[in-house]
Amino acid sequence: MSWTDRQRAMLEAMGLKVWVSPTAADTPMTASTPERAAPTTAAPAVSARVAAPTPAIDSDVAVAAEPRRPVAPPTPARAVPAEPAPAPRPMADVLAKALPSAMPIQAPTAAPAHAVGAGLSRDAIAALDWTGLRDTVAGCRACGLCESRQHTVFGVGNERAHWMIVGEAPGEQEDAQGEPFVGAAGKLLDNMLRSLGLSREDGPPERQVYIANTLKCRPPRNRNPEPGELAQCEPYLQRQIELIQPRVILAMGRFAVQQLLQSQEAIGRLRGRVHRYQGVPLIVTYHPAYLLRNLPEKAKSWEDLCLAWQTVEAAP
Ligand code: URA
Repeated sequence: MSWTDRQRAMLEAMGLKVWVSPTAADTPMTASTPERAAPTTAAPAVSARVAAPTPAIDSDVAVAAEPRRPVAPPTPARAVPAEPAPAPRPMADVLAKALPSAMPIQAPTAAPAHAVGAGLSRDAIAALDWTGLRDTVAGCRACGLCESRQHTVFGVGNERAHWMIVGEAPGEQEDAQGEPFVGAAGKLLDNMLRSLGLSREDGPPERQVYIANTLKCRPPRNRNPEPGELAQCEPYLQRQIELIQPRVILAMGRFAVQQLLQSQEAIGRLRGRVHRYQGVPLIVTYHPAYLLRNLPEKAKSWEDLCLAWQTVEAAP
């Protein structure tokens, strides 16, 4: 499958129709118009200069208000040559500007040091290894959600993954299975990740995601997380991030963003640039469940994934 086919497949998986010139089926798309770019010579997959997908999307779902920003394509896993030529980074300038202006790291909302988790202090949680952390979460009774949960939902994926995704809270199916994002939103998420050559399944760390939630227990009837619940659970997520040391965090949805950035700003105002959480680059994007209800936002979500990809690529 060529790169263009792959991107098209990803957009179709997200429910978007892709405009394709009848005359240049395999030529990379341009940055700002539906017209084709001047064909690149040789064009190894890693060096193709391609726009974010919005220009190539039917106008009924394209997002006109969002400034168009050239974004290099994620390189599909199978398209990476064994010895890739040095890859030009069309987003390098954008990132160079974005990184210094990233939001300052802010301490997460402090729960009382003696009152978080399963009776463990914030400091004690911060010292746990994977086994200790997993066991502590499994036995957590720090808030009322423990009364109604079937399972705690700790997280899934390679503990050395370069990518980390942070969602909101388990839903009904996640609560039943003890794994994050296994319902409809999870299927969309998996499709999006697959189109980037990423997966929660086994693979090399650079192709893997670790998926976790801000809350490890399901709120009854999927109600919004409450501030006290978020505060109790926050040290668990913080420790997961410390142990994984991902190259990028994708914060999906309002509660993940509020938790990690300590910002009340709307996602629409925070996305499109690189923030930081304890030194780790963080990209803000929409929650997959929101995307299922708001088709036009899927194009923006693809842009966010492209920015995340570029951020990982630009990392030292
Ligand atoms: N939504 C989330 O935010 N997390 C899940 O695990 C499932 C749905």
